[in-house]
Amino acid sequence: MRPDIAVTWSPAGERWAWAEVDLDAVVHNVAVLRAAVSPAAVWAVVKADGYGHGAVEVARAALDAGAGGLCVALVQEAARLRAAGIDAPILVLSEQPPDQLADAVRLGVVSTVCSTAQLDALEAAGAATHRVHLKVDTGMHRVGCPPEQAVALAQSIERRPALVLDGVFTHLAVADEPADPFTARQLARFDTVLSELAAAGIDPGRRHAANSAGALAHPRARLDLVRVGIAAYGVEPGRGVEHLCRELRPAMSLRARVSHVKPVAAGERISYGLRHAFAHDTVVATVPIGYADGVPRRLFETHGEVLVGSRRCPIVGVVTMDQLMVDVGHGADVRVGDRVTLLGADGDERIRPEDWAERLGTIGYEVVCGISARVARHHSRRGVVDSRS
Ligand SMILES: Cc1ncc(COP(=O)(O)O)c(C=O)c1O
Repeated sequence: MRPDIAVTWSPAGERWAWAEVDLDAVVHNVAVLRAAVSPAAVWAVVKADGYGHGAVEVARAALDAGAGGLCVALVQEAARLRAAGIDAPILVLSEQPPDQLADAVRLGVVSTVCSTAQLDALEAAGAATHRVHLKVDTGMHRVGCPPEQAVALAQSIERRPALVLDGVFTHLAVADEPADPFTARQLARFDTVLSELAAAGIDPGRRHAANSAGALAHPRARLDLVRVGIAAYGVEPGRGVEHLCRELRPAMSLRARVSHVKPVAAGERISYGLRHAFAHDTVVATVPIGYADGVPRRLFETHGEVLVGSRRCPIVGVVTMDQLMVDVGHGADVRVGDRVTLLGADGDERIRPEDWAERLGTIGYEVVCGISARVARHHSRRGVVDSRS
């Protein structure tokens, strides 16, 4: 892990809670991933507003770092990227509602297909030469055609002059658990589909299977490109691949400033439900960020901490909608305006999304995606804050 990022910004007129997104970390992570999977290409997954980091800014950084394309979940997400002037290939990862396919065509995205109905709908939407990737369900059972239907669907695509088969892909269910044999089974099923396509004389275009964990832990899954989301943001896909993530840098820090400081006497209780009792006289700092910002209410009962300056302090009392309280210790010299780090580094201390995830029984993905739109994102590149949203 690298030392603290240089940027800390809460400009006049803005609330005392914000997220810093270090785009240099994204550039670094994409470069690390490219080196790891070469000659496969890296396509950066920037759905859900770039996993909460800002899709447009992350997309630009990833493309600058050599990403070959982008992936999103929704046509609307692709539209935002195109509106920002991004003309790179954009794969929409699932079939979309028919009434949105005219937009998909107009935006020139690459559409995922796994049914005849979607092929019909794309044609009806006025596609001229619209690129599609055929999604095959090899065992995740979320979306995708059954493997035995892949050849017939690919032939159906080839028969339609408006559509171009540009890729064939699948998605791995347990790539983050490298010892699980299910990934090999999924890849074997995918290989069978690719062989059947070859036997039918069909060029599959780009073949892809790997998410971040697949890219890092399963060389066989890399194929022509990897669809990398969470690792590009410097967050581990799962504990099972932690050892493969050491070179990655977390891109997001969540910061705030102390808004109120007061002494509290032994025996007093705090916050809704009065669920924390103070055993000793102490000092409590209030921090103006809460569950409406994506700081989970349960972070108190799971012994969550924040950094006040570079000192770890426990959250005391349940996190409320807009504010939380921390015990900064008896006699502490903490003042209104002091910097608080909820995620990220200060001095030698760091709190990672994975730390919250561990406490809360979830994954780092949910932590970063959960930082709400109410929290302004301040992006920095080469150590300089260059954009805000
Ligand atoms: C189809 C597909 N591919 C790739 C990804 C990226 O996964 P990760 O963030 O684990 O790299 C996702 C994310 O959920 C996905 O749904």
